[in-house]
Amino acid sequence: GAVRYEAENATYTAGSTVDSNHGGFSGTGFVNTPNAVGAYVEWKVPASIAGDATITLRYANGTTTGRPMDLSVNGSVVAPDRAFDGTGAWTTWSDVTLTVPLKAGDNTVRATATTANGAPNLDYLDRG
Ligand code: GCU
Ligand code: CA
Repeated sequence: GAVRYEAENATYTAGSTVDSNHGGFSGTGFVNTPNAVGAYVEWKVPASIAGDATITLRYANGTTTGRPMDLSVNGSVVAPDRAFDGTGAWTTWSDVTLTVPLKAGDNTVRATATTANGAPNLDYLDRG
């Protein structure tokens, strides 16, 4: 099974809040970043051995405007401007899945907003 890293236990841009006003999230809430370029959530993902891993980011975007983010691993962008399209409602959560290269030990996986709308609401990162 997947190992889950809740966004509320990750690190995130100053000014973010952990909210629970839109249901359907995992854990105790989700991270609501400021609406700004550069808003981010960064997860620490440990790996016992180096290699590719499948990760899933759970998010909601209740607007009709996409909120693309650069996805980086250990400081290198591995998926620039990855789409986080509107999900129809803030209570509707969707998955973005990608394969990332991890090193043995602790990795940092960061999702950084590339538009002034900031990040979507972020619930968790699952490592498959
Ligand atoms: C609303 C919504 C928040 C969301 C924000 C946004 O305020 O309630 O959960 O983060 O919009 O546009 O980012
Ligand atoms: Ca927000």
